[in-house]
Amino acid sequence: SHRIMMGPLVAAIDQGTSSTRFLVFNAKTAELLSHHQVEIKQSFPKEGWVEEDPKEILQSVYECMERTCEKLTQLNIDISNIKAIGVTNQRETTLVWDKETGEPLYNAIVWLDLRTQSTVERLINKTPGRNKNHLKHKTGLPISTYFSAVKLRWLMDNVDEVHDAVVSHRAMFGTVDSWLIWCLTGGKSGGVHCTDVTNASRTMLFNIHTLDWDPELCTYFGIPMEILPRVRSSSEIYGLMKSGALSGIPISGCLGDQSAALVGQMCFQDGQAKNTYGTGCFLLRNTGAKPVMSEHGLLTTVAYKLGRDQPACYALEGSVAIAGAVVRWLQDNLGIISCSEELEKFAASVGTSYGCYFVPAFSGLYAPYWEPSARGIICGLTQFTNKNHVAFAALEAVCFQTREILDAMNQDSGIPLTQLQVDGGMTSNKLLMQLQADILCIPVVKPSMPETTALGAAMAAGAAEGVSVWSLNPEDLSEVTSEKFEPQINPEESEFRYARWKKAVQKSMNWET
Ligand code: G3P
Repeated sequence: SHRIMMGPLVAAIDQGTSSTRFLVFNAKTAELLSHHQVEIKQSFPKEGWVEEDPKEILQSVYECMERTCEKLTQLNIDISNIKAIGVTNQRETTLVWDKETGEPLYNAIVWLDLRTQSTVERLINKTPGRNKNHLKHKTGLPISTYFSAVKLRWLMDNVDEVHDAVVSHRAMFGTVDSWLIWCLTGGKSGGVHCTDVTNASRTMLFNIHTLDWDPELCTYFGIPMEILPRVRSSSEIYGLMKSGALSGIPISGCLGDQSAALVGQMCFQDGQAKNTYGTGCFLLRNTGAKPVMSEHGLLTTVAYKLGRDQPACYALEGSVAIAGAVVRWLQDNLGIISCSEELEKFAASVGTSYGCYFVPAFSGLYAPYWEPSARGIICGLTQFTNKNHVAFAALEAVCFQTREILDAMNQDSGIPLTQLQVDGGMTSNKLLMQLQADILCIPVVKPSMPETTALGAAMAAGAAEGVSVWSLNPEDLSEVTSEKFEPQINPEESEFRYARWKKAVQKSMNWET
């Protein structure tokens, strides 16, 4: 066996909705050297509620770090070559902890959670003209259950421990990035309480133009500003690891997972876009230094700010709540598949949904509808329909939802995308990728290294001032190899199915009102 000459390495923590990963890359070649993954439990204590345990999340990070370091050692790679760590995370998920004890004061309320639906409806009804876009000029976001502010408000109103800690100035709020960075840099003994501009832009408390917390928004939601983390760029040294095998290594990159994927896919130019298929599905298109406000139900969000003195770049985003989550639902709730590979196998065995349409509006509908009262439906059933058709319809649902986002994106920007760059767990499903190309009527391009989210966070960490082992200059980056899926069905067939899908979406709306 040959010995690999090791230059500097950079690591990333990728804390997603369904799992946590720790990955180590070669900073010269971007090669993935080793990684470890741990699943995260989700609890559904009431209908529409989704929670995760903050300590389990933290524990999973430590476990992934330890196991990855062991694997590197087995590969004869010296872990002292790791020069920086980046953090990337599920966005919006809301935590409050006690800064004196270091203890979380409630479970993390996951972005998908619907408990704030009535609050959101009340807030919208109070705005002039019942306008869900009332705060959009500052936040880029519609008022929705999705974002952190309403979740934080719920915690303050409904959890005594949170309320008391706020009153006695012991409370700290954060999204998952803040919680992890605070814990990893020392927690109650000197942990750094910060977030980055991309994560902050998902809270509804952040002004995306001034790039700072907005006092008016905080008053609107009744949030005391002292509990908020300090907002920093996506690439700078926030603090050093306090314990474990990686103690002393700087944490120097932080991006919400969808922003990190945009960076990892090298979408640095105005107009470049990527779609990530995780628990949900998120299409982001870089709009450069200008925030562009959508007329078609998309969000305006901070894409990244790669250094304290660098300008922020913005993106238009189409967020789909349920993508990979539908696979888990078919497995855990209906039991008609035992693993995700089986979904592909069953769907491929019929090659059609036979007129069955599945709208997985489990958390209401996100972009472009923003309809919290929508609920999931499976329709178009006959006695002929079997589980294979439902499996196919589930995959098609992911593709149709992406088609709706792509249409909105093309309308907003006026320049249609001619191909779609994709990544994320579900892209290993070849049937899904082919269906996606068929339904979009444009080619779908998938990089051969699927961990683009982690790569983006590692790049940001490695490029930070004071670390500087990774160049973000596209010319210095190695060529990315990829796989391309060309549309194979005729566009009329595709349009016919898409029109049926839209009919099914209409049926899923206003269910809970
Ligand atoms: O906005 C939620 C998003 O960040 C979650 O991503 O990959 O866990 O579906 P993922």
